[in-house]
Amino acid sequence: MAHEEILSEQEAIEKDIRSRVAAFEKARGNLIPILQMIQEKQAYLPPEAINTVAAHLEIPVCEVYGVATFYNQFRFHPPGRHPVKVCMGTACHVKAGDVILENFERKLEIREGQTTPDREFSIERVACVGCCALAPVALIGDTVHGHMAPSKVEGLLLRIRIEKEKAEREKVRGER
Ligand code: FES
Repeated sequence: MAHEEILSEQEAIEKDIRSRVAAFEKARGNLIPILQMIQEKQAYLPPEAINTVAAHLEIPVCEVYGVATFYNQFRFHPPGRHPVKVCMGTACHVKAGDVILENFERKLEIREGQTTPDREFSIERVACVGCCALAPVALIGDTVHGHMAPSKVEGLLLRIRIEKEKAEREKVRGER
């Protein structure tokens, strides 16, 4: 995605958040419901949103961060268009799920909980996804990849990148 597109997307997000936050009564007890609302709408808590919430409730920014980081339901990075979820349930853990996680981290050059700068991929560890017979398991978007091996990681990422390039080429061709 072009830098300008990311910027205008960012501005739209900030505007939307400001108007939604303003609809809440200025009461400290609304902090968690407001954070939940933002996370539900944006899938994460952007830093600007934290500032907006603090200003609206007239409380310090660090207090908002303090509450948000206390609950692990809140994310601080936008999920990628292709969120990678690596299962760390018992069956997957026993079959070296952590090595799979590490491989995704290495190939994407981000850590678990982070998103690539182009927002294509994010990585998170998840609890059992219910297909232990296929352990170790990783999901990319909604697609389950079973019997994962470190050697499969690069191929999966490459396939997504090739599909994206193909779609972009077709889009350009369609615009001509
Ligand atoms: S432990 Fe990974 S799918 Fe169940």
